[in-house]
Amino acid sequence: MDRMTFTVPCLFGLEGLAANELRRLGLEGVQTENGKVYFSGDWSACAAANIGLRTGERILLRLGRFEADSFEALFQGVMACPLEQFIPRNGAFPVKGHCLDSQLHSVPDCQAIVKKAAARRLGQAYGIGWLPEDGPTYQLQFSIMKNVCELFLDSSGIALYKRGYRAQAGTAPLRETLAAAMVQLTHYRGRELFLDPFCGSGTLCIEAAWIARNRAPGLTRRFAAERWDCCGEGYFKEARAAAKAREFHGQYRIIGSDIDPQAIALAQSNAQKAGVEHIVSFERADARTRPYPDQGGILCTNPPYGERMLEQQQARQLMQSFGKRVARLPQWAIYVISSDDGFEAAFGRRADKKRKLYNGMLRSYLHMYHKEREDHGR
Ligand SMILES: C[S@@+](CC[C@H](N)C(=O)[O-])C[C@H]1O[C@@H](n2cnc3c(N)ncnc32)[C@H](O)[C@@H]1O
Repeated sequence: MDRMTFTVPCLFGLEGLAANELRRLGLEGVQTENGKVYFSGDWSACAAANIGLRTGERILLRLGRFEADSFEALFQGVMACPLEQFIPRNGAFPVKGHCLDSQLHSVPDCQAIVKKAAARRLGQAYGIGWLPEDGPTYQLQFSIMKNVCELFLDSSGIALYKRGYRAQAGTAPLRETLAAAMVQLTHYRGRELFLDPFCGSGTLCIEAAWIARNRAPGLTRRFAAERWDCCGEGYFKEARAAAKAREFHGQYRIIGSDIDPQAIALAQSNAQKAGVEHIVSFERADARTRPYPDQGGILCTNPPYGERMLEQQQARQLMQSFGKRVARLPQWAIYVISSDDGFEAAFGRRADKKRKLYNGMLRSYLHMYHKEREDHGR
């Protein structure tokens, strides 16, 4: 198979991190755009990205890119894509997609046109008028932006943020891809203590444990392309074995705490499912009064914002008390995500640096307080 182009949609703000990860996985042609990253390669590249990428949402194989300012142009554009190179005679090919800033704005109408054109092309290629669609799924996905359509095949199936360890989530859980991104932004490598004092279902601690161990996030789940004739399981088996061989088995100290005992029970069960219960410990504690060990480390957390949980006023009061508690801890680098524009005022300190991130559709900032620790360490 020749080189293919893959597109990785990601949460806004995570493009650079996803691109760096793809480069570290040895993938080529990595380029970023708003909300997505491209790379090129063969099926082994596709398998490596699906299994190893922490901050991307899906790995989409690009089948074509063309102008589509009318239904006719959309139909002809899809008809020109080499679908039969990938989708077999019995393949099921459902269609989904989105339109933005384009002449074509009705998603259901575009869906119907893409389906019709794909069926026509495949029917002609296989010399049949009716396609049974009773085989494996080849999810087609279109994106029409500013009258340019891109057509993809989704090689991931279930989204990559669904790692499999969080069957149950607590209140307002952090998406796993965003949690992994936050941990990467702290530069945590497993050397020091990692603490999340508002841990909820434990996502940040579990992602930190996987990063410390260099454990690939897709090791135990399956991907759509494994069932495709054009790709197959072999590439994924090889990529899994290679990822497993790169794991570390050191000693790590990762602690999560939360005021809610139910959250602690949930976090413990999630850590067990993720296979990291021996390096992550969870305890019930109030972040405003708990001890913060003198040895210091990385404190990375997602406290209640007042958007989805407590009212804003209550959330600010909580941040005020928490800010006071952690005000003079020069051995700790502190990272707090919040969508509240009043966060720094409530916390009582201007961040050394802020990084814009999107928690779903919620514009948030990761507030970073790391200078004091760096100066202290000198
Ligand atoms: C936004 S949620 C954290 C979600 C978590 N990142 C996850 O992925 O599941 C905030 C958490 O803060 C906890 N919390 C609220 N007040 C607290 C306090 N004073 N001390 C410790 N935890 C608190 C809540 O119980 C809740 O689990």
